[in-house]
Amino acid sequence: MTKPRFTFSSLKGIPDVLPPETILWNKIESAACEVFGSCGYDEIRTPVMEPSELFLRSIGESSDIVAKEMYSFTDKGGRGISLRPEGTAGVVRAYVEHNLPVRPAPQKFFYRGPMFRYERPQKGRQRQFHQIGAECFGASHPGMDAELVMMLMAFLEKAGISGLSLEMNSIGCPECRAAFKERLRAYFGPHLPELCPDCNRRFEQNPLRILDCKVERCIEIGADAPLISESLCPECRRHFDSVLALLTAMKTPYAVNPRMVRGLDYYTRTVFEVKSGRLGAQNAVAAGGRYDLLVSEFGGPETPALGFAAGMERLAKLLAEETLFKDLMEKTGGQPEVFIAPLGDAAGAAALVSAGLMRSRGIRVEIGWDGSLKSKLRRADKMGAKLVVIIGEDELKSGMYKWKDLKSGESGEIGAAEIPGLLSR
Ligand code: HAM
Repeated sequence: MTKPRFTFSSLKGIPDVLPPETILWNKIESAACEVFGSCGYDEIRTPVMEPSELFLRSIGESSDIVAKEMYSFTDKGGRGISLRPEGTAGVVRAYVEHNLPVRPAPQKFFYRGPMFRYERPQKGRQRQFHQIGAECFGASHPGMDAELVMMLMAFLEKAGISGLSLEMNSIGCPECRAAFKERLRAYFGPHLPELCPDCNRRFEQNPLRILDCKVERCIEIGADAPLISESLCPECRRHFDSVLALLTAMKTPYAVNPRMVRGLDYYTRTVFEVKSGRLGAQNAVAAGGRYDLLVSEFGGPETPALGFAAGMERLAKLLAEETLFKDLMEKTGGQPEVFIAPLGDAAGAAALVSAGLMRSRGIRVEIGWDGSLKSKLRRADKMGAKLVVIIGEDELKSGMYKWKDLKSGESGEIGAAEIPGLLSR
């Protein structure tokens, strides 16, 4: 073996996604496209980098994402730029920038793609991860909250993921939240010396974030903190009750989690998370909520909005464990339905013609170019091909190709055009 001149590996927390896992990703994405499309959502693609300010002004300075986790740099023109840590801010920017508010409401978009957060990598948490999400603009009715949550659950079901639980809460509007923040400050004030340095900062900036802290002592102290539900104004209370009543009427199982506050600043009223018991500490597969003020804060007209995002890596992990996919995950990738073994140059051209015809009909075909007939057949077997077709000189002359079904052991001779028929026997 020659000594390598260079060796590389991917960055920490920024993994490759290899087959057969990518097959699961495709399945999840097609389920999303189908379900979201049927609910009137169209795909939007926004850039992976945006001005850093965009995230600062939406996700919020006090959030962990902005305070600690952004991949930020100054470009050659001296602009502060960040890799997007989530999708909502960019979609809202695009909505306002392209004057989409003039179109009839509600306007609904979905998106997919990589997001970046400089977190400590661990099981289920990467620095580059992928989200598939949806955002809806111009609907204030609680019916839309319920519809969005039901769309998310329908997507997860369609993708084949089971054993999930839905948690709901309301974090109110700025008015009820101002009162709540004061109650939180009154509660946490005497505990400040015991709280971690981050929570001391949060106490000043936004005491809601203390409820999200992962430090054990802060969690213990937070356990008896006041609940936002006790501070909701009558309108926010009514909105939340209506959302829950609709979910109940639609027999969508949920639990109210009065402690959920979410880690991003833009939320108002309804927030929700979908969790799995099979993922360990990083158990949220999807999360979202309302953000009725963000569009106007970004210079658009007052536009109620709501959305969610699901983590692709976590969904793919859950899907890989579902019985239907266990088999697939043990193999190296998609198996060919037909493996053509050409012997000689003229047979190579015939193999390409046959493969082209079958591929145009959506059949997965592999041509075994290298090695002896024996090694080609061994490779077909290893790849899990269903059918092997052999094209040698004799076969070329007669136009009848030898075939063997590797599963049943049956074999025979057949004209090129008839090969697909063998698959549907
Ligand atoms: P988020 O809760 O920050 O919300 O992220 C949504 C989902 O992305 C999480 O539930 C999780 O599945 C996945 N996720 C987040 N961070 C990581 C990570 N480091 N590694 C792997 N997966 C991760 C948002 O991003 C909001 N933009 C959701 C939203 C849309 N709200 C309204 N519209």
